[in-house]
Amino acid sequence: MSQLRHDAEFDPTMVAEITGRGYTVQRANVSRELMDPWRSVVSRGFLDSQPTDEQLQAFFDRNKDYRLIGIYDPQTTVPEMPVATLGAWGARLTVPGGELESFAVSAVTVSPTHRRRGLLRSLLGGELRTAARAGFPIASLTVSESGIYGRFGFAPAALAAEAEISVRQAGWAGPEPDGRIDFLTREQGRAIADDLHERVRAGRPGEVDHRAGAWDQVFGTMPGAEKAGALRVVQYRSPAGQVDGLAVYTVIENEESFSDSTLDLHRYIAATDDAYAALWRFLLSLDLIGTVRASGLSVDEPLWWMVADRRAARVSVHDHHYLRILDVPAALQARHYERADQVVLDVADPLDIAGGRFQLTTTESGTATARPADSSVAPDVRLGIADLSAMLLGGVSAITLAQAGRLRSDDPARVARLFAGSVTPLLSFWY
Ligand SMILES: CC(C)(COP(=O)(O)OP(=O)(O)OC[C@H]1O[C@@H](n2cnc3c(N)ncnc32)[C@H](O)[C@@H]1OP(=O)(O)O)[C@@H](O)C(=O)NCCC(=O)NCCS
Repeated sequence: MSQLRHDAEFDPTMVAEITGRGYTVQRANVSRELMDPWRSVVSRGFLDSQPTDEQLQAFFDRNKDYRLIGIYDPQTTVPEMPVATLGAWGARLTVPGGELESFAVSAVTVSPTHRRRGLLRSLLGGELRTAARAGFPIASLTVSESGIYGRFGFAPAALAAEAEISVRQAGWAGPEPDGRIDFLTREQGRAIADDLHERVRAGRPGEVDHRAGAWDQVFGTMPGAEKAGALRVVQYRSPAGQVDGLAVYTVIENEESFSDSTLDLHRYIAATDDAYAALWRFLLSLDLIGTVRASGLSVDEPLWWMVADRRAARVSVHDHHYLRILDVPAALQARHYERADQVVLDVADPLDIAGGRFQLTTTESGTATARPADSSVAPDVRLGIADLSAMLLGGVSAITLAQAGRLRSDDPARVARLFAGSVTPLLSFWY
């Protein structure tokens, strides 16, 4: 996020709503005096324990350049503890054939003592307006609960799957690439992860770049990291010597049946098909491991075509990466389209940030122009901003949304063909 955006003024409506209740609002990432209580409140909001001083210092060092906001109630017994929090930064979001700078939102909490008084509505509504004014074409987040963000115009654009795999039942039926697997130290893994992730991200709609500090959480490489010693890191190197993948996991000993222990896969990043196959083959063939659990998987995972018995995996799918378009022409023009067409979209926005009527024209070469259309032009499709955001990555068909009563068109199949993508969207981690 540029300095200007990072320091962008608060939305005046938001400030008026918050001060009207007798509260104040300010950025917390300016000093440890403000940041430590802010971080403690976020921990409490997400059911974690109070961070240690070492962890608070590490958090400050890694996050002081982000936009971290607190709302404060001077009447509380500990007035330096915010009663609501929100963190944001500029993230690079991959869309089919391109990318967008997204206003990524995280650390959204409202204190249980102040819940359901409209604080989230004021804070998030205000920040989305600020983001739109600062030129972000889209906002994004991952959620603790599905029911919260639809009213703000967000929808799940990339789903994710979790799997529990019985490894002895699964049986490997996939490729057996040459190349080698080696253990790394956590620091070595940390050093190569970002390049690998960026290689994967470039081709996978729904992924965002990692914040630098977030890699330390993956590898337990920051001061005071909990349970870091349990993490194991392996890499895959091609026969030509190129490092093309890594996996981070822990093992949980089964005290009743030692040879039937469990492996929890925290991250795998495979930048080539060989790395993908080699790492999964390794993980599914470890001695003493009877079960592998993994999350952040695609709903369209190649692994299911590489095992002999698919029913060895119990797979569940959930909503994961929520997007919210803030500028319809900019968002639509950023992606690639598989066909030439011209459609007029009528987009309703519950927060009045990005709605209107727009003409989208795509060419044989896949480029697009999108511009506001006159209200006298009849729309080919009517939908909400959340539904357009859901379709942007190609993860849901317009036919499905029409069947769900969320999109209206005389020809939803045409809209579905226009927005279809050839790569199933995925965000492989939480933020
Ligand atoms: C989720 C949370 C931030 C909501 O804050 P809040 O200040 O109570 O929310 P508001 O009062 O502004 O509510 C705004 C709207 O969202 C709805 N809403 C709030 N929390 C909701 C929830 N958990 N599920 C469904 N709807 C919810 C409200 O009913 C209200 O709806 P309406 O305006 O359409 O009537 C707060 O409950 C919280 O901190 N939860 C624990 C941490 C968490 O899960 N954070 C979200 C991380 S993604």
